[in-house]
Amino acid sequence: MSSPARSSGRSLPGERRRQHAEREPVNDQIGSYRRRTDLEARKRTETLLAAEKRLLEMIAKGSPLKQTLNALCGFVEEIFRDSSVSILLLDARGERLWHGAAPSLPDSYTSQIDGSAVDPAIGPCAAAAHSARQVIVPDFASETRWPQVRALVLAHGLRACWSTPITSSEGKVFGTFAIYARKPGGPTVQQQYHLQQFTHLASIAIERDHALDALRRSEERYALAMASSGEGHWDWIVASDDFYASALLLQIFGLSPDSTFSSRAQFLELVPFHPDDRSKWEAAVQALLAGPNARLETEMRIVRNGETRWLHMTGLCLRDEGGAPARWAGSVSDVTERKHAEEELRARQQMLDLAQKAARAVAFEWRIGAGDGQNRWSPDLEAMYGLAPGSYDGTYGAWKRLVHPDDWPAVRAAIERARQTGDVAAEYRVLHKDDAIRWLQVKGRLLFDSEGQPAQIVGFMLDVTERRIAEEELRTMEAQLRLAQRLEAMGTLAGGVAHDFNNLLGAILGYGEMALGEAPAGSRLRRDIENIIVAGERGRALVDRILAFSRSGVGERVAVEVQKIVRETLKLVAAKLPEGVRIEQRLRAGRSASMGDPTQIHQVLMNLVTNALHAMPSGGTLRVSLDRVHIESQRAATMGSLLAAEYVVLKVADSGTGIPAEIRERIFDPFFTTKEVGVGTGLGLSLVHGIVTGLGGAIDMASTLGTGSAFTVYLPRFGQAVGADKARMPAPSRMSRGNRQRILVIDDETPLVDLVTGALARLGYTPVGFTSSPAALVAFSADPQGFDAVVTDESMPGRSGSELIREIRKIRPHIPALLVSGYLGAAVTQRAREAGADDVLKKPLSTQELAASLARVLQVSR
Ligand SMILES: Nc1ncnc2c1ncn2[C@@H]1O[C@H](COP(=O)(O)OP(=O)(O)OP(=O)(O)O)[C@@H](O)[C@H]1O
Ligand SMILES: [Mg+2]
Repeated sequence: MSSPARSSGRSLPGERRRQHAEREPVNDQIGSYRRRTDLEARKRTETLLAAEKRLLEMIAKGSPLKQTLNALCGFVEEIFRDSSVSILLLDARGERLWHGAAPSLPDSYTSQIDGSAVDPAIGPCAAAAHSARQVIVPDFASETRWPQVRALVLAHGLRACWSTPITSSEGKVFGTFAIYARKPGGPTVQQQYHLQQFTHLASIAIERDHALDALRRSEERYALAMASSGEGHWDWIVASDDFYASALLLQIFGLSPDSTFSSRAQFLELVPFHPDDRSKWEAAVQALLAGPNARLETEMRIVRNGETRWLHMTGLCLRDEGGAPARWAGSVSDVTERKHAEEELRARQQMLDLAQKAARAVAFEWRIGAGDGQNRWSPDLEAMYGLAPGSYDGTYGAWKRLVHPDDWPAVRAAIERARQTGDVAAEYRVLHKDDAIRWLQVKGRLLFDSEGQPAQIVGFMLDVTERRIAEEELRTMEAQLRLAQRLEAMGTLAGGVAHDFNNLLGAILGYGEMALGEAPAGSRLRRDIENIIVAGERGRALVDRILAFSRSGVGERVAVEVQKIVRETLKLVAAKLPEGVRIEQRLRAGRSASMGDPTQIHQVLMNLVTNALHAMPSGGTLRVSLDRVHIESQRAATMGSLLAAEYVVLKVADSGTGIPAEIRERIFDPFFTTKEVGVGTGLGLSLVHGIVTGLGGAIDMASTLGTGSAFTVYLPRFGQAVGADKARMPAPSRMSRGNRQRILVIDDETPLVDLVTGALARLGYTPVGFTSSPAALVAFSADPQGFDAVVTDESMPGRSGSELIREIRKIRPHIPALLVSGYLGAAVTQRAREAGADDVLKKPLSTQELAASLARVLQVSR
């Protein structure tokens, strides 16, 4: 505001000079002339001052620019009589001039120059704007530069044009200020001075308008930014406690747009804070205002229309020189939806974590081509590989080293498959630091980049060790089941054949024995018969073994003191120990008992020992041990499986030949033997297996070629044996003889009836034979006291042996009865016991067994 302020109240230099110039020729009338000119000058000055004041007011009030400029033109035209004023405004790019104000010029004029280019060839205003210098055209009648403008000007009755550029305080051209006079001529010095003054006022008005425009635009920009950010704003001027809240802020807080408050405290009273968050939030703000920090970012809840909303607030505190808060401003946004999404994500993550834990699975990501150490593993994944948290170094090499070398080819093949199909699937073992082996399964996808190159693997890693172990066990058990079924089928077959052979052998031996009694001593006939009997005995021994095997699963079930049987059996073994074999025994099972049949346990040990001795033809050490063992966890044995339980464990080890790997699978098969005909039947181990599994036990076998073998038999322990056990050792005894007691003998096969009656007769009894059970029953009923005992075959057409015994017992309850059967299965034994038979004998009957059994039952019944 320099020149207008300076101008007020003082006369202008040009004016003074002119007053002086006008005063020179005046003499007489000098007094009145001076008064007149003084009056005019004062009047002009007053007009000027009033105009200036009026314009400044308009500018200060922010009147529209056109209005201000029109007023300005009006004032100028008042001072410059006989002239029209035109203001042209330069556009922002400085390229064209636009009509700004020209209140006394008609449209026909202004429309012609509106939008003219800033080109000195166009006209005086364009030339003034272009050069930023005043252009004076004293008379358009003699002006040749701008013929078009000249025509236009003259057509509107104008002659002269004085165009002055309007420039900013920095010298930037805003437009032109032109006076068109109706008479030719240039401006006087004083007029020039006024021109400068008005041009300056126009410049102020334009500059102010530009500033307002810029402010308006900036405000618009700010408002747009606020609206689009969805954030509400506040601004608190601390000193005056002036609190501003934007419309959006009120909306976020659920407040009406015309809410009123005259201080920050009043505003806070309106905010619907969540009861749990208000004090927390206020404490945080107070702490910030107390200094020294400038920023506060926090989250809080409000209750808007009964609904809890989450708000995020960012505030900035400006301080005065003393550090006290001067202004506290910031923004608030509603983040409820984001919060909910976060919560949902968190819940999902938690669920995923749980599911992963439950499934023993861990999600993973592997970036191919990532720099060394850039692939990081989660602690869960590291644990799966047996690594301490954070110890995996992120390299391919380190991972590869963790994979079991035997499984590496399969893993490599899986990688190759993944490259082709994108499907990642493999199962491999990893070696943990503590030497534990775990089976891991990986399932996932290989992702390719835009060029089709493998970029990343994502998937799940699962620990499938338990499943693997279970599968392995299942396989073993299936194999065992197949073996057991095979053994059973062979047992049944062998049992059937042996049963028939038994009867034949019974006849051969029985008649052989009888014939032997008749043959003269020293005769050739006698020798021949003796040979028949020896061969028959051999056959009987063989059939015995077959039968023993076929019924190995059945037998007595009594508590047996295993150690006692083992000790006695070893005594027998020691007595016949081959030369060069040393026996080492270590029996530590005490009185531990096992449920079973004493004879069968004896058979088990005998067979194992026999095999061991055969394996040491040139001597060695036979080690037999018996222990009580607690098995900790269930596991499969070579044959059968072990439960977590107490076992009586019999181990027979030799330092013999060992068993070649290729036959190990078959040694338990019936009739599998590597021995010559006559030496081995191949039934020993099948018998052992049949007995042991029948007792619920299992067998382990270990063998090293050239070093020896060890067979370990596990028998379920059944407490302690008490008192005298029923261990019966098959020991030869003196044949007991009868005392003419009458024995009722029944068998559907006549030769066998004859055989038994013959034998009994020779033993001193009085046998009465029948080939049919009904006939025998009739005879017995006729004279129940006429018999002392009954010996009957079990399997007969019509009434079986056990049924016959039951009928006889109805007549005479305590008569001793023996049941004879070629096949002693569990069912037969059961039937015999139920019928009340005192003993069960197996075919073929040896005279000795018959004698012993009969003597015993007769003794008991006496
Ligand atoms: N301790 C052992 N050392 C070496 N080989 C053995 C041993 N025990 C068993 N075998 C092998 O297992 C085969 C089968 O044994 P198994 O006892 O079933 O029949 P065997 O001994 O041949 O005949 P049997 O027992 O019927 O007289 C034997 O022929 C032998 O090859
Ligand atoms: Mg054998």
